[in-house]
Amino acid sequence: MAALRVAVLAGSGRGLLRTPTAMKTPKANMSFASLPRSKKVALTTLGVVAAGGAGLALMLHQSVKASELELHPPHYPWSHAGPLSSLDHASVRRGYQVYKQVCAACHSMEYLAFRNLVGVSHTEAEIKAIAEEFEVVDGPDESGEMFTRPGKLSDYFPKPYPNAEAARAANNGALPPDLSYIVNARHGGEDYVFSLLTGYCDPPAGVSVREGLYYNPYFPGQAIAMAPPIYNEVLEFDDGTPATMSQVAKDVCTFLRWAAEPEHDQRKRMGLKLLLGSAILFPLIYYMKRHRWTVLKSRKIAYRPPK
Ligand code: HEC
Repeated sequence: MAALRVAVLAGSGRGLLRTPTAMKTPKANMSFASLPRSKKVALTTLGVVAAGGAGLALMLHQSVKASELELHPPHYPWSHAGPLSSLDHASVRRGYQVYKQVCAACHSMEYLAFRNLVGVSHTEAEIKAIAEEFEVVDGPDESGEMFTRPGKLSDYFPKPYPNAEAARAANNGALPPDLSYIVNARHGGEDYVFSLLTGYCDPPAGVSVREGLYYNPYFPGQAIAMAPPIYNEVLEFDDGTPATMSQVAKDVCTFLRWAAEPEHDQRKRMGLKLLLGSAILFPLIYYMKRHRWTVLKSRKIAYRPPK
């Protein structure tokens, strides 16, 4: 194309266009087509056998994977699941209450501070009052002593145990994981946590779980060291919502989703802005592109053979 354009621009393209026809191009002799028939058959057979063998090995491997024995959580219709849906903040608020009154007895959330809840689930005054209920170790003071004071907005959520060893010692050797990012840290996210919380049941016939463990089909290995933490009316919601088991589980999962992804609403709002912006911008850019290229696109290049 470039050579042609030069030729057209130069007026007469004779010198370029009349290239000698018998130009020798060395031919690479490595293509499949140029092999003898017997080699073609042998190579094809090898390919089919290798691909088939790999497929079979993969299938066998999949079918004996022990982790496939666990129950996968179903997809629940979360109100925040849509591409443009925000979190249900009333649910986040109830979820915090569940965390505070139930889960916080064993699980830390060390990456969350009280101030993070301001404007999300509570007002500043409410959160200040909640923070003040907790005793926080601060210091040292001028005599070098640590002291306790009521919590402040800037404090992080207090931990139930001073360290991992104490947590294990109190829970039969199992460590309750930090819940700050738990829905991002487990396959299935809030679907998994919801199923785990509501999925405790009796072990099937022939299956026995060790003392101190509980049967839960959603937990990898089916025996979990967490006793069923919630049940109907495990607490009383401040806003009067009936605290059924599934309601409590749903609210705490929404809260955990917010904790793991505090930018959730902002992210979706930005996405909406991006969609609206590009709905205007893309047609404009397309029109401009057509406009700029018209000269090139509507040009006709003709070859006039020399007389
Ligand atoms: C009595 C203490 C206790 C309470 C209360 C408790 N948990 Fe747990 N939790 C544990 C322990 C111990 C483990 C570790 C289990 C294991 O590894 O077998 C655990 C594990 C978990 C896990 C991780 C499971 C996994 O896949 O590894 C999640 C999620 C969880 N808890 C959520 C909660 C929520 C939500 C609440 C509040 C509704 C709660 N827990 C209340 C003790 C507790």
